[in-house]
Amino acid sequence: MPVLPLFNRRYILQSRPIDLPGPEHFDIEQLDHPVLAPSELRVAVRYVALSPWQGQRLKDFSNYTQPFEIGELIDCDVLGEIVEVGSAVPSECGVGQMITGRLGWQEFAVTTAEKVRVESGEFDPTLWLTALSSPGLTAYCAMDMFGRPMPGQSLVVTSAAGAVGGYAVQLGKLAGMHVVGVAGGAKKCAHVVDVLGADACVDYRSDDYHDQLKSVLPNGAHLVFDTVGGPVADAVFDNIAKYATVLLVGRTMSNNSDRPDLDPVNMRLLWAREATVQGFSRYSYPRQWAFARERMIELCRGRAIKSNHNTVAGFEQTPQALHDMLAGKFIGKVLVRFDQAA
Ligand SMILES: NC(=O)c1ccc[n+]([C@@H]2O[C@H](COP(=O)([O-])OP(=O)(O)OC[C@H]3O[C@@H](n4cnc5c(N)ncnc54)[C@H](OP(=O)(O)O)[C@@H]3O)[C@@H](O)[C@H]2O)c1
Repeated sequence: MPVLPLFNRRYILQSRPIDLPGPEHFDIEQLDHPVLAPSELRVAVRYVALSPWQGQRLKDFSNYTQPFEIGELIDCDVLGEIVEVGSAVPSECGVGQMITGRLGWQEFAVTTAEKVRVESGEFDPTLWLTALSSPGLTAYCAMDMFGRPMPGQSLVVTSAAGAVGGYAVQLGKLAGMHVVGVAGGAKKCAHVVDVLGADACVDYRSDDYHDQLKSVLPNGAHLVFDTVGGPVADAVFDNIAKYATVLLVGRTMSNNSDRPDLDPVNMRLLWAREATVQGFSRYSYPRQWAFARERMIELCRGRAIKSNHNTVAGFEQTPQALHDMLAGKFIGKVLVRFDQAA
């Protein structure tokens, strides 16, 4: 039996935010550590991954997710270390092994081998929550299954400095496309070009956003990878090429608004250019997800893909980090490190 702190601390939902969540919407519960059943293992959570869907689930509306209940543990993907195993746990889940799983905002989790994935020590551990998890694999699956990226054609990625968008930019470049990012602010745009390798990035907050888009897309966008929606994406739809493909991967703007039902789209140009619009949810393609993971592992091995993330230190910082992530303050995926003090 390892030496454990007196209690396991975990975050539960205390009240629903109307706009952005803050520390006041969460309670910290302190629970005793349960004794393990033979099939159970105990995991010390090292990193938790913050995602926009967590923000959505705090509110009382559902799209492809369901709201958290008041008093429910805040769910998310984590990277953790096995610190104790029951007598019937398979040998690959030994003490000291790193795992990923959806174990939530808690310092220790009790789970079973079927609910976690054993990860190798081959990479920087944060890659298992970024390029090799939802952000990277969503970008890979949507691009590979529906994007048909063609060398020389133009790709526009909205929220290009974001967790998913940052990998769509990199995958577009690897496919030989002319990649144009769209992001909020000069710092994010510089990151998209200088670090992620886009050919250009347009700041949608600038006064001449529409003109800039037009000038960097002389032949229009052949492929659009959109996670944002709203007026930012509508301006891109004004600049699509004939028979363009539009991948709708997220709707950050309407999901963050207090009227998510009001989500108008520039349909006129989509119609006039005879575009194909493809909605995408990562949950619909488990087989392609496994394939994407193998391909992304190869790309990481060859150093063809860069991780695109920020790490915030300290369990106590988690709610504020979620607030800041949803307010657009970070570049890339946001991870909170639980085994490091703030
Ligand atoms: N379909 C799927 O299977 C799937 C999988 C994963 C994620 N998603 C969806 O894809 C979207 C992007 O996910 P992600 O994890 O990559 O997140 P993300 O893009 O890193 O999200 C944060 C960024 O969103 C941008 N943003 C745009 N409008 C915003 C607004 N009104 N308020 C706050 N931020 C805004 C901000 O960047 P700027 O400053 O550049 O605007 C911010 O930094 C989300 O809507 C998510 O639900 C879908």
